[in-house]
Amino acid sequence: MRRLSATERHRITVTLNGRTVTAEAEPRMLLSDFLREALGATGTHVGCEHGVCGACTVRVEGAAVRACLMLAQQADGLEIQTVEGLADSEGRLNALQKSFRRHHALQCGFCTPGILMTLTEFLERRRAPSEAEIREVLSGHLCRCTGYTTIVRAALDAAAADDRESEGEETCST
Ligand code: FES
Ligand code: FES
Repeated sequence: MRRLSATERHRITVTLNGRTVTAEAEPRMLLSDFLREALGATGTHVGCEHGVCGACTVRVEGAAVRACLMLAQQADGLEIQTVEGLADSEGRLNALQKSFRRHHALQCGFCTPGILMTLTEFLERRRAPSEAEIREVLSGHLCRCTGYTTIVRAALDAAAADDRESEGEETCST
């Protein structure tokens, strides 16, 4: 088996927000750096770079993961969603983003992309979560500005809207 050199660059192909893209990366390059530097997806922020702050959270094959704890090579062939993939193709914000805006759930916004990706994944699998559950999910993210109260409100509001929507769908289909 051929040994890889630490500086040798390799082609990596991912599906980023629905588009297949290819770029080169050294074997040691983190997924967070690959997204930002090689693919230009700078909405993914980098804070601590050791898995604590949550700023770099993206979705890989649907799961919310810390992009600073994964090598770019490990993502080869996988589907990735970043914060740029939340709005629609016309740039219209999704319901969670609108809720953040409505509740003023950000100040500097550094933590926001990671929090949005974690909450998007969480709200897809947990309908009508309690405030305690939302706070527990948010405990994986450091926000130095907001005190979290408005973020929790925005998440609860978005969850309630999702719930109303799915109840409406159920009613329509019966
Ligand atoms: Fe990845 Fe902080 S930059 S968790
Ligand atoms: Fe500034 Fe969260 S809004 S760190």
